[in-house]
Amino acid sequence: MKLLDIYAKMKKDISFIERELERTITTDHELLNETSLHLLKAGGKRIRPVFVLLAGKFGTYDLERLKCIAVPLELIHMASLVHDDVIDDAEMRRGHLTVKSKWDNRIAMYTGDYIYAKALMLVTELGSLDIHRILSKAMVEMCIGEMEQIRDFFNVEQTTRNYLLRIRRKTALLIAVSCQLGALAAGVESKHSLQLYRYGYNVGMAFQIRDDVLDLTGTEQQLGKPPGNDLRQGNITLPVLFALEEHATHDPLLQEIKRIRECNGETNVDYALQLVRQSDGIKRAEAMAARYIDKAMAALNELPDIKARKHLRDIAHFIAKRSH
Ligand code: IPE
Ligand code: IPE
Ligand code: MG
Ligand code: MG
Repeated sequence: MKLLDIYAKMKKDISFIERELERTITTDHELLNETSLHLLKAGGKRIRPVFVLLAGKFGTYDLERLKCIAVPLELIHMASLVHDDVIDDAEMRRGHLTVKSKWDNRIAMYTGDYIYAKALMLVTELGSLDIHRILSKAMVEMCIGEMEQIRDFFNVEQTTRNYLLRIRRKTALLIAVSCQLGALAAGVESKHSLQLYRYGYNVGMAFQIRDDVLDLTGTEQQLGKPPGNDLRQGNITLPVLFALEEHATHDPLLQEIKRIRECNGETNVDYALQLVRQSDGIKRAEAMAARYIDKAMAALNELPDIKARKHLRDIAHFIAKRSH
């Protein structure tokens, strides 16, 4: 099922969130306005606000309240992308130039900071210390995840466990928290909000594994950016770790990664991509993502059988197969 078909049933509410996103970051400051709207207007899946809204369906669904969670969640995600593109030295995002490449790294740092600040201003309107605490903790974890990634650039000795801990922090927790806070703002029973958190966490792990597979197998048109950027930057992802375990690919891939490192990423990574694609790394990473999806589905089974549950199931299926 396509994401757009799943979203079709919630079109009105998603359009409302879209308008609120724009309204929240619009400012009289011309440059900040231009840089922050640049990424917003480039599109994106808006999957985190959708999780907030769907989690809210298990309680008292009040769009005005849920907006104060859904908009900040997307903004925090967006701000992290603006910073991430500085770290990953990425030229393209969502089919457009990144803020760091259209302007520069300094402008990107403050654009990200500005978007974070706007997110926090909006969530404050709910007046809930618990919500603030959970959200701030997720942001701290994201920072640690990205720091660990920098620390582990080109580290071919890292374990799968290192990788999983890192993606838990940089991606899965924010998605888990999207579900948890949507539930909290709608007063969902705690045993159900726990299952929603579990769903989000497992779907989030699968989401990042899929993202990492796509960076190795996707096309520029599907990804909105050229593939191979992870390898170019030295970000050793799960399929690469698996490929390195294989006798046949181990030595040539190791040499190739060493060569890419020596070129400071200013080189062609096609041969490394080819080696990983020829190995079982992609298949094994996909199998691991599928196990996370199964766990997410198991959490859903513990929830009341309402329409939102079907939508969450469809999104999990989409994530397992997604090509964008
Ligand atoms: C990209 O997230 C970064 C990851 C956590 C993998 P998305 O794939 O949700 O990005 P957009 O918002 O759709 O562009
Ligand atoms: C996701 O990491 C960024 C954050 C969670 C902060 P990636 O670097 O893998 O995401 P893309 O591939 O650039 O979207
Ligand atoms: Mg990154
Ligand atoms: Mg990146």
